[in-house]
Amino acid sequence: MDNRQRIDDAYKRKLKRNKVKSVENRFHFFSAGKSRKCKLNPLKIILAIIILVSIVTFLLSPTICHKNSISHTVSRPRFVNRWMWGGSDPRYISNLEMNWDEILRVLKKLPENNKIGGVGLLNFNENEINRWEQFFPTANHSILHLDYAEKNVTWETLYPEWIDEEQEEEIPSCPSLPKLEVPRQRLDLIAVKLPCRNEGNWSRDIARLHLQISAATLAASCKGNYPVHLLFVTKCFPIPNLFTCKDLVAHEGNTWLYKPNMNSLREKLQLPIGSCELALPLGVKEQDYRAKKQREAYATILHSAHVYVCGAIAAAQSIRMAGSTRDFVILVDETISEYHRSGLALAGWKIRTIQRIRNPKAEKDAYNEWNYSKFRLWQLTDYDKIIFIDADLLILRNIDFLFGMPEISATGNNGTLFNSGVMVIEPSNCTFQLLMDHINEIESYNGGDQGYLNEIFTWWHRIPKHMNFLKHFWFGDDDVVKQKKIRLFEEEPPVLYVLHYLGYKPWLCFRDYDCNWNVDILQEFASDVAHKRWWNVHDSMPEKLQEFCLLRSKQKAQLEWDRKEAEKGNYSDRHWGIRIQDRRIKKCIDPPYCSWKGMLKHWGENNWTDDAFPISTPPARTTASFSL
Ligand SMILES: *[C@@H]1O[C@H](CO)[C@@H](O)[C@H](O)[C@H]1NC(C)=O
Ligand SMILES: *[C@@H]1O[C@H](CO)[C@@H](O)[C@H](O)[C@H]1NC(C)=O
Ligand SMILES: *[C@@H]1O[C@H](CO)[C@@H](O)[C@H](O)[C@H]1NC(C)=O
Ligand SMILES: *[C@@H]1O[C@H](CO)[C@@H](O)[C@H](O)[C@H]1NC(C)=O
Ligand SMILES: *[C@@H]1O[C@H](CO)[C@@H](O)[C@H](O)[C@H]1NC(C)=O
Ligand SMILES: *[C@@H]1O[C@H](CO)[C@@H](O)[C@H](O)[C@H]1NC(C)=O
Ligand SMILES: *[C@@H]1O[C@H](CO)[C@@H](O)[C@H](O)[C@H]1NC(C)=O
Ligand SMILES: *[C@@H]1O[C@H](CO)[C@@H](O)[C@H](O)[C@H]1NC(C)=O
Repeated sequence: MDNRQRIDDAYKRKLKRNKVKSVENRFHFFSAGKSRKCKLNPLKIILAIIILVSIVTFLLSPTICHKNSISHTVSRPRFVNRWMWGGSDPRYISNLEMNWDEILRVLKKLPENNKIGGVGLLNFNENEINRWEQFFPTANHSILHLDYAEKNVTWETLYPEWIDEEQEEEIPSCPSLPKLEVPRQRLDLIAVKLPCRNEGNWSRDIARLHLQISAATLAASCKGNYPVHLLFVTKCFPIPNLFTCKDLVAHEGNTWLYKPNMNSLREKLQLPIGSCELALPLGVKEQDYRAKKQREAYATILHSAHVYVCGAIAAAQSIRMAGSTRDFVILVDETISEYHRSGLALAGWKIRTIQRIRNPKAEKDAYNEWNYSKFRLWQLTDYDKIIFIDADLLILRNIDFLFGMPEISATGNNGTLFNSGVMVIEPSNCTFQLLMDHINEIESYNGGDQGYLNEIFTWWHRIPKHMNFLKHFWFGDDDVVKQKKIRLFEEEPPVLYVLHYLGYKPWLCFRDYDCNWNVDILQEFASDVAHKRWWNVHDSMPEKLQEFCLLRSKQKAQLEWDRKEAEKGNYSDRHWGIRIQDRRIKKCIDPPYCSWKGMLKHWGENNWTDDAFPISTPPARTTASFSL
């Protein structure tokens, strides 16, 4: 069975599995009105009986347990009334003081005709519930009960660093979280109090996630033809890609009122709860994803330097070769010359000039000073969906079906984080504003956009790593793994969807071999077959575009310097012995600095800066001269 077949089969298996799953987990029940959810815990059964007796005799309450609870929970009988136990799970408690005036003001923003007849209340304490009931004296109140998540469900178990995507040894599966039962009553408003604990880490919080997912699921299950609003009381913003700011009706202080778009909410709730399973849309095949083509685009960004111009041109070429007809949009700042822009335009990129965004926490002139410019992708509001791609990768197989995925779908990086090299985003001015609003307060682990976006979008969806496959051999890769990767790099027709070129970029090397071999710390990125693959795409480009991939004199000197070092070090791969035939060596694009051999004589002694060799910028190319 070939690899592609295996992947497809894996998705089919997953499809089946998900169907089975949705039938499970139906142990909970719910009763409307003021009754309490009741379950038995085998460990506390004696205590439970005592409590039950005391409840019956002392309170004489007739509505404490719903009758059918017994039949639902035969194996785990438990009569629990959370407040009566006095032992609420601290993970779920929010000590935030309720500001009823604020809530009133926010609710006033509801349209006049939105009568609140049924209110669902989740995670409020008894006093707060009483207040809610006075608030809407004529409404029916449902007190929603949610069993706590198991203690062993942590953020790391929902977002594991690695999962067995190919299902070679095991089928990845997410831990399950207890579910709310849907009340048999119309709900117009679902109000939830969310904890915001642990300061710097509040957005990776199981209880917070659990409460939001549960409320969303409840809202999405309301079938009637009436609007359902969600109200959150919390110090920190709700999950921005589950409850989008487009759906925000009103926000004041700690009160957030949403009117979710039910269709997109339902789609998101179909996804696995974390990156513990792959999240590709069920049943979507490459061929049959056809949506709103005009509102979808591939996008990338070039800021602060033109070295990636050739990469972006080749990336565009590869997308067209893979068969996509979507728009390409490239964000460039003013440092990208007219000449380079004309090359990008010829390759098919629609150019948008942007103002760079400075990372206020970066040092001046640091390598990551302007990386927050990427946030401008969210301002591409003439598109509903964007597949962002880094400019140093090739699309080997059409990934248009990713447009069917919600924000943020991406591959895993390390720890609980996603890699921002390929990601699905949903442009929105207010999401852009959200990103900007927290720029001074949220810290990125690497000072780059990837770290920052991972703090905002902690709830992300995993796509297979074949859709952003890194050209990289880990230190720990054994020979079998290495050979497998090499096969993946060269396989024809391709198995990988996207190949991401790390280390020295192919267009900054000789074409003869991967020059990462000549630098010891870059050898982990060296692969001649991946290198060759890039050059095949290059060679399929019109000559006028290849011109943007020529070498600067300084780069030629650098490459020769590296080669000599490798020779001195007698590197065992012996690439340094290969005679370079790449004709780009002979072409000079930055006269009068053509003598790179002379430059080499003083290599290491002089501080060459890019400014010392300004690249000549010929007049901009026009489309008239050729067509793609
Ligand atoms: C409360 O629920 C009852 C029974 O479900 C229903 O008849 C009544 O109309 C509801 N009240 C409001 C204000 O919706
Ligand atoms: C958590 O513990 C339960 C048993 O208490 C076990 O069934 C489950 O697999 C554990 N989950 C994780 C993610 O370890
Ligand atoms: C934040 O949470 C993550 C995931 O649970 C954990 O790895 C990290 O150590 C936590 N950081 C802090 C500062 O608590
Ligand atoms: C991921 O890797 C980066 C650098 O390699 C490191 O700084 C960061 O702490 C790692 N994050 C996690 C969650 O492991
Ligand atoms: C987003 O803001 C820009 C101006 O910054 C505006 O031109 C555009 O129309 C806005 N988009 C939407 C959907 O409001
Ligand atoms: C910042 O952007 C530059 C240029 O696009 C890139 O080379 C670098 O890897 C980025 N750094 C981080 C930390 O994201
Ligand atoms: C270089 O390495 C090869 C083996 O890879 C060895 O035979 C040769 O003697 C070495 N040359 C020098 C100059 O050390
Ligand atoms: C290189 O630059 C550093 C700092 O800018 C300076 O201290 C050093 O003397 C320079 N070296 C040469 C050879 O110019």
